[in-house]
Amino acid sequence: MVCLGNICRSPLAEGILKSKLDEKLFLVDSCGTAGYHIGNSPDPRSIDIALKNGIDIRNQKAAQFKKSDFNTYDHIYVMDESNYSDIIELANNDTEKSKVHLVLDVLGIENIEVPDPYYGLENGFEHVFQLLNEACNVITEKLSSN
Ligand code: 4NP
Repeated sequence: MVCLGNICRSPLAEGILKSKLDEKLFLVDSCGTAGYHIGNSPDPRSIDIALKNGIDIRNQKAAQFKKSDFNTYDHIYVMDESNYSDIIELANNDTEKSKVHLVLDVLGIENIEVPDPYYGLENGFEHVFQLLNEACNVITEKLSSN
């Protein structure tokens, strides 16, 4: 799960997806395209909305995407078009590029972004949580049927 800073959207996406998948079978992680917040905990507003929904993301620490992640992961879900182009630029070949998807594409609505709630109002986090929860339900179904 990839966003810009790895403190708002992708930590939520990681926590939500982990809560739905068997951790013995699936490796789920998140990172940012930028390194501004490396080592930081998630934004308190993401922590709060996750806790309200029974998910604890307090132990996560922000990291930056690295090229070796193309080898480690089968699927790389990004939150917005800017994340998409930043990650695609780092890909070495078409196989790596084919792993990268806008996360909300799984809902069948193409080219829709998970809005960045960082500078917005508190309820932006609720909206982001709902979008990611729906997307993670579909991802879980897809992965579990493979
Ligand atoms: P995120 O949100 O990409 O969902 O983690 C942001 C967090 C921090 C910044 C931008 C977006 N920032 O500019 O520091």
